[in-house]
Amino acid sequence: MSFQTLVVDHPLVAHKLTALRDQDTDSPTFRRLTDELVTLLAYEATREVRVSPHEIITPVTATTGVKLVSPKPLVVPILRAGLGMLDGMMRLLPTSEVGFLGMARDEETLEAVTYAERLPDRLTGRQCYVLDPMLATGGTLAAAIRFLTDRGADHITCICLLAAPEGCARVEADLADLDVPVTVVTAAMDERLNDKGYIVPGLGDAGDRLYGVVG
Ligand code: URA
Repeated sequence: MSFQTLVVDHPLVAHKLTALRDQDTDSPTFRRLTDELVTLLAYEATREVRVSPHEIITPVTATTGVKLVSPKPLVVPILRAGLGMLDGMMRLLPTSEVGFLGMARDEETLEAVTYAERLPDRLTGRQCYVLDPMLATGGTLAAAIRFLTDRGADHITCICLLAAPEGCARVEADLADLDVPVTVVTAAMDERLNDKGYIVPGLGDAGDRLYGVVG
């Protein structure tokens, strides 16, 4: 598999991420910052979005521009926390379709379990943008990518607010047999995971910070 990580090195990204990390940032502000940050990351993440030539006539002359090819890209937020990234992504790709994948981490085994799925059966020739805020152990993201490539997706870009080196290594190792390019675009590559599988320094539980603690 060709696997790349792209850390978006931009002062505005770093500024928003710092506020997001701050434990005193409340949920409404956290949601707004996530939304803004995802739009900035999406700009970099869509650098290879497929386009084809498109003829138009300006008020002055005929010219050739580009338009997104069909089938349009598929955006796949991983429930629950990936939902908080959807609007920020759709702002840049408003004509894309959205598929949902519900995956949770079993807090004992730290392995990913799929509990919901609403995706097209065939993704042949489809570019997919996976939204998952925290690339921690990598189990969820690797399982989600496998799910999409099993259905035919041939180009995967993951947008993560934060990534841990352990998670990137796991995704690369678990998917070594795949013949599909995978790119992870993130605002920061953090230091490590702690013994509970949380990213350090991280921002805590992204789902809880977006939507509150579910008992
Ligand atoms: N999931 C989170 O929400 N935060 C982490 O640090 C790791 C996984």
